Amino acid sequence: VTGYRQYCAEARGFAFSDLDQGAFGSARIIHSAFAYKIPDAITSADAAPFMCAGASTYEALIAAGTTSNDHVGVVGIGGLGHMAILFAKAMGCAVTAISSSNRKVEDAFKLGADDYRSAVDIGDRFLPAAEGRFSVHNEPQPMNINVLLITSNEITTLEPFMPLLAGRATIVLMTIQQQPLSIPYMPFVLPGHRLIASTEASRENHIKMLEFTARHRIKPWVEEFPMTAEGIAAAFERLETGNMRYRGVLVREAGSSQTCSHFRSD
Ligand SMILES: NC(=O)c1ccc[n+]([C@@H]2O[C@H](COP(=O)([O-])OP(=O)(O)OC[C@H]3O[C@@H](n4cnc5c(N)ncnc54)[C@H](OP(=O)(O)O)[C@@H]3O)[C@@H](O)[C@H]2O)c1
Repeated sequence: VTGYRQYCAEARGFAFSDLDQGAFGSARIIHSAFAYKIPDAITSADAAPFMCAGASTYEALIAAGTTSNDHVGVVGIGGLGHMAILFAKAMGCAVTAISSSNRKVEDAFKLGADDYRSAVDIGDRFLPAAEGRFSVHNEPQPMNINVLLITSNEITTLEPFMPLLAGRATIVLMTIQQQPLSIPYMPFVLPGHRLIASTEASRENHIKMLEFTARHRIKPWVEEFPMTAEGIAAAFERLETGNMRYRGVLVREAGSSQTCSHFRSD
């Protein structure tokens, strides 16, 4: 009823069902309840990543009750993360990009981030103070993040992020992984933080995301490749060397495209 079909007990998601209808198909027949009209302002190649990374990050921001007065932190600048920065900026929020390295500083500021924090290395502490900041053009933001989206490929502990948060922050887990997550108890409980999870989007929010995207002329960063054996090989080479920025889109012909989503882009 609410359109949150992904939370239905019988739901079977991408990569777990319909395996005979893979992402490289040239066409697919689906029930109209699962189809979305793409606004004219969105190109087919741009629409492809919006249908997953876009819908999911928009939903996560809505699930957290994000408003224009919020300071949004985005952990992991990849397919989802770069989209989250674009959406949060368009919503009028302050945005801090939080990355495992300093390789994406320039990208983050081009995407619209106001601040950037990097980890010493993956899984290690994120630097909470001025030393962790890469000052490029923007004014430093006080570390009062009250909406934190976890969009990295892996998350083992929330401990490094605690010093970055304002009281009563909402942390949204988006990472899909099998391993457990460690939460420092008192630093989480005493400031009254909230922890929620979000996957995909309700039908209503998916439609609103497309409208929002068209209205704000939001453009994801995509790299286009022809949908040929050579094009796919080139796309995989970009993925496997960690150079895709930030989604690879296979273009079959004018007006028809297919995304390679769920691949690492770091
Ligand atoms: N909840 C949902 O609705 C939903 C929807 C789609 C995908 N997902 C999940 O969201 C996650 C990200 O997907 P994506 O498509 O954005 O992936 P992606 O394009 O590969 O980006 C993920 C980012 O995570 C960081 N990262 C890479 N390896 C890491 C590691 N070992 N430990 C910590 N961080 C790492 C990198 O950012 P930095 O270089 O900035 O650190 C990388 O760019 C995946 O787990 C995916 O399955 C969730």
